[in-house]
Amino acid sequence: MLYKLAHIIKDRFPFVWDVVEKVNEWLFVMRYGRKTKRITVKAVPDGYELKHLRDVPAERIEAFFAHQPKEAFSYFRPHPFDKKSIVRLQKNGSYLAYLLIDKLNGQIAGYCFNRCFFQGRGFRGRMVDIDYRGKRLGTAMNRILNEVGFGIGLRLFESVSKDNVASYRSALSASNVRVVEEMDNHELFLEILPD
Ligand SMILES: CC(C)(COP(=O)(O)OP(=O)(O)OC[C@H]1O[C@@H](n2cnc3c(N)ncnc32)[C@H](O)[C@@H]1OP(=O)(O)O)[C@@H](O)C(=O)NCCC(=O)NCCS
Repeated sequence: MLYKLAHIIKDRFPFVWDVVEKVNEWLFVMRYGRKTKRITVKAVPDGYELKHLRDVPAERIEAFFAHQPKEAFSYFRPHPFDKKSIVRLQKNGSYLAYLLIDKLNGQIAGYCFNRCFFQGRGFRGRMVDIDYRGKRLGTAMNRILNEVGFGIGLRLFESVSKDNVASYRSALSASNVRVVEEMDNHELFLEILPD
């Protein structure tokens, strides 16, 4: 219900969403700010480095999104992908996002985030670079997001389409899940359960 409402506000009343986002960030940082500074992540796969969104230049992140084929965005539209929007997310203390960097060539291999809400909920999302698909990085990023989210005491959720097989399977491989709601268009709203 909260999830649907958030989407309606975001899509139809962007100015209201901006205010909601700012207030949420402020309250989230008050409640969780100290904990987010102490986050440590162990699930980073060998050969990769995990960087916080704010520690990578926005131009590089914009180029990562531009490098992905159109199909990659069929089920992945969490925010606009231009430089200005990325800079905004980099400054948002409730948007805990990370990039997986290939140590061999410095390339961004994946992007993942927990969009966090001060009531104690986080919503997961991730994208693996087209050249790095099928190497279990999507599953690894789910584990990273679980470590981050559960580590600071959030309940975690995500919506996933049954038609997006790789996403659905990587969600199941990395975590126990509970189907909260089955929505239209084969979408499932999942709660991710701690191990
Ligand atoms: C979803 C996504 C992140 C998966 O990343 P990935 O690193 O390629 O996936 P993994 O290698 O971790 O594989 C996860 C599971 O999906 C399966 N899988 C991967 N690609 C598949 C494909 N094209 N078709 C069917 N199954 C596939 C794997 O076999 C694995 O299954 P298993 O755990 O049961 O063995 C990636 O496909 C992607 O970035 N898609 C575009 C963005 C998107 O849709 N994001 C999700 C919405 S938030």
